[in-house]
Amino acid sequence: MSNFGSFEYRDNQLFAESVPLAEIAAEFGTPCYVYSSAAIRSAYQAFDRAFGQRNHLICYAVKANSNLAILNLLARLGSGFDIVSGGELQRVLKAGGNPQKTVFSGVGKTSDEIRAALAADILCFNVESEMELMALNEIAGQTGKIAPVSLRVNPDVDANTHPYISTGMKENKFGIPAAEAERIYALARQLPHIRISGLDCHIGSQLTELAPFIEAANKMLALLTRLQSTGISIDHLDLGGGLGIRYNLESPPAIEAYVRALCAATENYPQQLLIEPGRSMVGSAGLLLTRVHYLKHAPHRNFAIVDGAMNDLLRPALYQAYHAILPITKRTGETKTYQVVGPVCETGDFLGHDRDLIVEKNDLLSVMSAGAYGMSMSSNYNTRPRAAEVMVDGSSVHLIRARETIEALYALEKLPPA
Ligand code: LLP
Repeated sequence: MSNFGSFEYRDNQLFAESVPLAEIAAEFGTPCYVYSSAAIRSAYQAFDRAFGQRNHLICYAVKANSNLAILNLLARLGSGFDIVSGGELQRVLKAGGNPQKTVFSGVGKTSDEIRAALAADILCFNVESEMELMALNEIAGQTGKIAPVSLRVNPDVDANTHPYISTGMKENKFGIPAAEAERIYALARQLPHIRISGLDCHIGSQLTELAPFIEAANKMLALLTRLQSTGISIDHLDLGGGLGIRYNLESPPAIEAYVRALCAATENYPQQLLIEPGRSMVGSAGLLLTRVHYLKHAPHRNFAIVDGAMNDLLRPALYQAYHAILPITKRTGETKTYQVVGPVCETGDFLGHDRDLIVEKNDLLSVMSAGAYGMSMSSNYNTRPRAAEVMVDGSSVHLIRARETIEALYALEKLPPA
């Protein structure tokens, strides 16, 4: 069984830190995301501590969970941020994040997003194509700025992860092919409104082995040596995110082991190391609380129909991802094997297949390890208001996002004149 950190049973009741989850459900309703601030703090500190004296910057990947309260918690711990849109930039600024610790990744930055990031004086643009570099130079020129730039280089490393979240192979849309990197760095050096600042890669997400990270780091270092021989130097090396968490039977490296391996692989590289962890910072720190509405015992299958659905947590439907599902109150009785499904009208709408549970109508269940890419990938499909979000801190509970109202879902819609 996975280790759920800040979520533990006490007398057969599942708690978030010192708060019974049943109390949270009673107060805020379901479906509801619940986060443990202690778990987020401890993940950040594990990353930070493992770097020791090494010059480093941890840029939390906002896409994993962009709630302002989570960004603010991380900002107060000293974290930087990895953003992929103007919206995420605005969130970071609103949450008190430091733009000088913020890097901007993504293959399709728009002119408006580039302008906003230049105006905010972010730390670095992780540039993913030659055309983007030219656009950035032009916009920086128009706004009287010099854009700090890393090239995101595609190291062509197999991350051994789900194909949808593998990003560092040559057939993926991400990054600049390694073979072109030197030419594009040379070009960047000539551009008047560009300052070369770093070198960046990101090979994928939910990696459960160290080897691909090290292979990518070695390729980056080899490229760096070639760049240095042409007189190009950088002030930071960004090794991206991607460290996996334990959802089921995986055994990903611990945060400390991962950071130490990166530090060891780059020990001869004296400048700043930057990483962009998302999932490993918040994934295990969150769960989705949901209530069983109906049980249906069909001849071949038992269904537990719950109020959480694919619009709340898309990962099972999209990646066939496994999330453990635990009862909030442990019962005794006969275990049955259930398909845990939501109310959305799609067969793909499930939270878990073939789960052995003892449940009754109105029971609460918890979908574990849902802190990353849960709420941030949620939608309003089937006109379902997005879930409430709650953050627990010791024995305190804070609502950090109210449940959406139906009115808000169509507030921007208009009828054309009759
Ligand atoms: N940096 C860049 C440039 C990225 O594209 C990503 C994730 C990260 C950092 C953070 O990676 P992490 O540490 O979270 O693995 N929705 C998928 C995951 C998509 C990840 C995309 N990029 C899922 O639910 O599994």
